[in-house]
Order: sequence, then C-alpha cells, then structure tokens
Amino acid sequence: MLGYAPPALKRVYIKTYGCQMNERDSEAVASLLIQRGYRLARTERDADVILLNTCSVRDLAEQKAIGKMNLLGQMKKKRPEVVLGYLGCMAQSRGATLTQQQPVVDLVVGTQRFHHVPDYLDKIFADRAAAADQYDAELKAIVDVAEEAGSESTIRDHVIGTNGDRQVTGFVSIMQGCEMFCSFCIVPYTRGAERSRSIGEIEAEVERLVASGVKEVTLLGQIVTSYGRKTIPKKAGKSAFVQLLEAVNDVPGLERIRFTSPHPKGFGDDLVQAYRDLPKLCEHAHLPVQSGSDRILKAMGRGYSRDWFLKIVEKLRAARPGIAITTDIIVGYPGETAEDFAATEELMRVVEFDQAYIFKYSPRRDTPAAELPDDVPTDEKERRNQVLLELLNAGLDRKHAAMVGKTVEILVEGRSAKGGKRMLGRTRRNDIVVFDGSERQKGELLTVKITGSTTTTLYGEPVIKL
Ligand code: 5AD
Ligand code: SF4
Repeated sequence: MLGYAPPALKRVYIKTYGCQMNERDSEAVASLLIQRGYRLARTERDADVILLNTCSVRDLAEQKAIGKMNLLGQMKKKRPEVVLGYLGCMAQSRGATLTQQQPVVDLVVGTQRFHHVPDYLDKIFADRAAAADQYDAELKAIVDVAEEAGSESTIRDHVIGTNGDRQVTGFVSIMQGCEMFCSFCIVPYTRGAERSRSIGEIEAEVERLVASGVKEVTLLGQIVTSYGRKTIPKKAGKSAFVQLLEAVNDVPGLERIRFTSPHPKGFGDDLVQAYRDLPKLCEHAHLPVQSGSDRILKAMGRGYSRDWFLKIVEKLRAARPGIAITTDIIVGYPGETAEDFAATEELMRVVEFDQAYIFKYSPRRDTPAAELPDDVPTDEKERRNQVLLELLNAGLDRKHAAMVGKTVEILVEGRSAKGGKRMLGRTRRNDIVVFDGSERQKGELLTVKITGSTTTTLYGEPVIKL
C-alpha cells in the first residue's frame, strides 16, 4: 500500500486490555507506527488515533472495551477527526459486527494482521483528505481479520526509548496460536493455529534486547510449551521448547528467563530437568490447573488428572527447591457441583499456590462449553470465587510474613507506582519487593533484606555488601 504519504505528526494512543501477549503486540504496533512517522500520544486527549487492543478471554474484558469505545464515540462527536479502532482478539472474533454495532469505529484489525496497522491508518488519512474535496464521499470502515502465514514473526520490534526510558525486562513473542481447544476457551479461535518462530530468530532478538540493557526476558505465547512441536524435532529427548530455553540461557549478559503461558501437559521430564540445569531460568512455574476435580478437568478437555498435576508440582519442587508455583482457576464451569468445587478447594490447600488468578466462568462464543447450560448461578460463582480468594490470601499472608528477615536477590525495574523514592524490584520467584532507593539502581540486581510484608507486596532494604 505504498504511495500514501505518511500523515505529518499524527499522534496515536494505544490502550491495551488483557494479557502480556497483548502488551507485547501493542508495543510492536507502536514501534511500527513510529517507524512510519507517527508519534505516540501521552493521553487519549492528545491523540489523533485511539486504538483499543482487546481481549476476549472472558466476557468482562470484552464489556470493558465495548464500554470504552462507547465513551470514545461520545468524544468523537466533539472531535470528528479522531480515528477509532479495535485491534486484537475481540477484533478477530467479532470482525465486521463491531463496525455495524458501533459505527464510530473506523478500523478493525485482527491478531494476524497487526503489522498492517500503519498502512491502514495511512489509507484512512489519505482517503479523508481526498474526501474533503468531494461533496458526498462516504468513507467505509476498514476491517481486516484475515489469517496470514508467517505472521508470528511480525511481532518483533520493541519500543525502546520512545519515552527516554531504558527497559530492564523485555517480552519476546516465540509462538502464536493454540490448538488445545479446551472446551471453555476462545483463544484457538482468536489466535488461530500454532505457529512458532525459529530458535535462531528468537535468540537474535534476545541478544538485541540484552545489548540495549535488558536483563530479564519473558518468552511469550498462548501455549509456549507447544513451541516448535510441529517444526523442530526433538533432540536428545528434549522438546523444541527446552532446546529454546537452553539457547536463550546461553545468551551472555542475560540474567533471567521467564515464560508464559504454558500448559501443565507440557511439563515433561525434560522441562522439569531444565529447572534443575538452567541457572537463568527463574524459579517460578505458572501451571494453570483450572479445576481440582477430575470430572471437570475431563469435561474441560485439559488432558491431565488431578493426581498427574500434583505429581508435576512435586517434581518441580524437587528439581528446584523453593520454586514458586502459580495457577489459574475457573469456578462455576457448567455442571460444577459442590463436590467438584470442594475438590478444587482441597487442591488449593494441598499445593499452597504462590499466586492464583481465579475466574468466574463465562460462556465464550464458538466454544463447545458455550453449548452447555451455564447452570451455576452468578451468586454461587461469586461465593466460590470468594472462598478461593480468602484461602489464597490467607496463604499469601503467611508465606510473605515468613519471608521477613530473609535476604533475596531482586532485579530493580523502576519506581514503584506510588512514586516518591520508592523503587520496585522482583525476586526470581516473581514476588514484588518495594524499597527506598534511587532511579540509578534501575536495572541492577540487588540483594535486599525483607523487612515487612502484605498480601501482595514485600518490603525490603538493600544489604550493603562489604
Ligand atoms: N471463563 C472464565 N475464565 C476463563 N479463562 C479462559 N476462558 C475462560 C472462560 N470462558 C481463564 C482460564 C485461563 C485464563 C487466562 O483465563 O483460567 O487460564
Ligand atoms: Fe485456551 Fe490455554 Fe486451553 Fe489453549 S491451552 S485452549 S489457550 S486454555
């Protein structure tokens, strides 16, 4: 679509909903737009283009984005020149129905076509300029939710330095899509088939990030443990994902490796072994269990049993003592009885997760579970949610209090949200530590002594090394 002159100094604001993959996608779109001559707006009010990068995984996430677009539509009455668009998962799964329901929307771009956003914005501005001379021009919204081979390699550029900040942690997209088709999940429909980048390409990206000052990378994908399973053969019993972890572990200057989201089924012995053998791999595993009931796990099509899950937890704890185990849980899946729920509650007591994201089931379009009656009443879902939250928080209070007096290594990420002199870092287990420090410490690995704790945060003091 060359041939359109880049509009001078148009400013774009991207608001991101959802997961880290979406954060990463927004960052990549921003980077492409900057290369094309656009600028980033600091707020919506300063923006000529406002893009909502959306999430579909739960109904609440969609409602938020739709509500936001309604508000932006009101604003557009006063500023009709503003371009409004949807990107991401909801754009993918709803497509043109979005522009039909919300005619203020100018642009809808799905998950495999992010890299075309600059072309589309150029076209919108060019068409508007042309239409200004035409009495009865009617401009149609652009909707592109096509599939595209090779699109997994298009999310690559990082916006380093747009706000003068040096990044300490970086996200690297390693694969896209998911073919697990868990019964409740919309992701296989919004993100498409599994596509993986090559080990060499990912390694080179990590090297570039490290050269720019990044100390920790998080490898991202909808189901990272399936990385390369169709394209990269096993080597010495090691899956493609473990081969990738080894390659990234060898990048000089990198300090820490994380990854998300995995599937518990992907934790074979080779991955467990990697936790023992790879020093840069942080002692944290996110293992989304979803339910503690075998009956529900089966209905969800998760492919593992409660006992199998508990065994993985045991193996990981043996391979890396002190490893943090975190999870996702859904309450109120269709047909979840009091007994099923009790099994989940009991699983939480047994495992003592270091964090758990608890969700109330909501039916998602296109998924098999949406065909089933959503039969757990809303207030019962809410009650089950509360029971698990209280259990979780009591455990976190206890675990965090037990950290007081201990010494840990943190990577300093920047100022804590509350500002002031307070800085924020993370332990290798992914605990947040807040301490009094200075901006100069950003990017440093510091040893801190934990002095206090709450359910969500640890407080510490740097230990002066003699
Ligand atoms: N309802 C509620 N929670 C869901 N999740 C995915 N789909 C649904 C749904 N339909 C949760 C799962 C997943 C996390 C990202 O979101 O727990 O691991
Ligand atoms: Fe969704 Fe994860 Fe299941 Fe894939 S593995 S269908 S992303 S819950």
